[in-house]
Amino acid sequence: MHMEQTLILMKPDTIEKHLTGLVLSRLEALGLEIVAAKATVTTRALWEEHYANLKGKPFLNSVIDFMMGNFNHLPDHRIYAFVLRGENAISKVRAALGATNPEQADPWTLRGQFGCIKNDVMQNAVHASGTVEDAAREIALWFKPEEILP
Ligand SMILES: Nc1ncnc2c1ncn2[C@@H]1O[C@H](COP(=O)(O)OP(=O)(O)O)[C@@H](O)[C@H]1O
Ligand SMILES: [Mg+2]
Repeated sequence: MHMEQTLILMKPDTIEKHLTGLVLSRLEALGLEIVAAKATVTTRALWEEHYANLKGKPFLNSVIDFMMGNFNHLPDHRIYAFVLRGENAISKVRAALGATNPEQADPWTLRGQFGCIKNDVMQNAVHASGTVEDAAREIALWFKPEEILP
C-alpha cells in the first residue's frame, strides 16, 4: 500500500450541472482526505502545461477550449481543484472515474454516470492524475506547497 496524493479537477460539464459537490463526495467516500481545495480562474498557458503530455494531439486545442468553459455557459474560466490523499489514492480514484470515454465507462463509475454520452469523449466530468509522476507534476502546477495540508 502506498500513501498517495492525486489532483482532481471538476470539468466545466460537472460545474455547469452543479455536480461538483456530488462528485467530490463520491471520491471522499473512497476513504480519501481532502488536503487542498480551491476555486480558480484558468488560462490557456496553465492548460498547455497541465496537458503537456497531449502535446501534438489533434484534439488538444478543443480540449483546452472545453476546459476553459468555452463549450459550456460558465461566466468565466473557473475550475474547482482538489488534492485528495490516501492509500493508493491514484488508482482508487481512477477506478471510480471509469474509462476516459464516458460511452465506454461502466455505469457505476463517475464518468459512466455523469459524463456526456453524446459521443463526446472530452466531456467526461472529472480529471484525476494517472500516475505518481503526473500527480506530483500536476499538484505542483495547481497548488502552492502552503495550500496543501501537511
Ligand atoms: N480522442 C480524443 N478526442 C477528444 N478529446 C479527448 C480524446 N482523448 C482524450 N481526450 C480528452 O483529453 C483528456 C485527457 O486525455 P487522457 O489523459 O488520455 O485521458 P484521462 O483524462 O482519462 O487521463 C480526456 O479526459 C478527454 O477529456
Ligand atoms: Mg490523463
